[in-house]
Amino acid sequence: MEPELPTIFSAKRTSFVRSSVIREILKLTVENSDLLSFAGGLPNPHLLSKDVLSSVMESVVRENRNIALQYGDSSGYLPLRNQITKGLTDVPWISSDSITITHGSQQGLDILGKMFMDSDTNVLLEDPVYLGALQAFSPYHPQFFTVPMETDGPNLFWLEEILSQNKIHIFYANPSYQNPSTYTWSVEKRKQIASLLDEKEIILIEDEAYRYLDFEGNVYPSVSSFRKRRDLTFVLGSFSKILSPGFRLGWTVVPDVYRSLFTAIKQGNDLNSNQFSQVVVSKLLEVLDWNEHLRSIQIFYSEKKETLVSLLKEYLPEAKFSDPEGGMFLWVEYPKVSPKELMKQCLASGVAMVPGSEFSPANKSSSQFRMNFSFLGKEEMEVGVKRIAKVYRDINT
Ligand SMILES: Cc1ncc(COP(=O)(O)O)c(C=O)c1O
Repeated sequence: MEPELPTIFSAKRTSFVRSSVIREILKLTVENSDLLSFAGGLPNPHLLSKDVLSSVMESVVRENRNIALQYGDSSGYLPLRNQITKGLTDVPWISSDSITITHGSQQGLDILGKMFMDSDTNVLLEDPVYLGALQAFSPYHPQFFTVPMETDGPNLFWLEEILSQNKIHIFYANPSYQNPSTYTWSVEKRKQIASLLDEKEIILIEDEAYRYLDFEGNVYPSVSSFRKRRDLTFVLGSFSKILSPGFRLGWTVVPDVYRSLFTAIKQGNDLNSNQFSQVVVSKLLEVLDWNEHLRSIQIFYSEKKETLVSLLKEYLPEAKFSDPEGGMFLWVEYPKVSPKELMKQCLASGVAMVPGSEFSPANKSSSQFRMNFSFLGKEEMEVGVKRIAKVYRDINT
């Protein structure tokens, strides 16, 4: 008798789980060292001084071992929450009690999905949208709506249409140097949308992962800072792009009424965020000249962006994109080719980028690709762009 095949038992929600092509490509990059990847969103690890980091870690081990090697407060290490309150958010009404330190801002997305989303929750997203948010929200199978984006933010005509025709409960938005488009909402749109959300009583989840990555050193006021309904306003921040994703630390500004629920869900996830990382990051914030540190990151990324822009202009003038004000990506349209074919041939030729369909809830086909410029060196970028140009021309002839 044939042995019975084991059946996989899993909860219904797992049928809505989305995988990430980006993580698959990252895996390929590790397996194949010749693959040049514009696909990831990897910050450059050399932007944090080795010497400063070593001396901070040593002092944490010598002086703060009892705290750093212990379980901690589920809301996060208080000195770090105070530092975030003072210097890393512009939401005027908050105190350190409003901040919960999360395991990356990604955990904040996961907790908010668990907290608010069911199959009858209407969630508005930007189109395109950050893939990690789709991954966090999709298991709860909410109804997704999307608003078309312009280079200075959502198309207001469509936004008003959507809000007037549907009861939207939540708007998830990434208004500064958005991943993947790097579009950045104008201050005027931020104000108008904040008041529209107040009027319609909509929860805003504002993702500020790239807040400090402006090439000129500007910082946009958050949409949340213009809102009156602070009880409906969540703001996510991250240390990944300004220190290192290796710490896996971010934070969520949580309104008073939701605080104990948010903390209880987090406790079910991980009890508390990595305590060792929190103490190290808190010390780093004390010893680094913060403005100088941020400026060096911004200048570094700005130069990298210039390199990719000029390479594309030189080797692939057919590629269309708008020049971003900050962030880590170019959102590039490759006209007149099948995106699937381009992706397949590029991978076969040893170069990767992320197809735009990944950033759409319904995997809508798109002629856009997301290209990261923060990680590859100049020569690698040149070889990579030449490979893409060759593939593009071969397909088109
Ligand atoms: C828009 C956006 N939000 C959130 C995250 C998650 O960041 P982390 O969990 O590293 O803080 C990312 C990561 O790339 C992102 O691009």
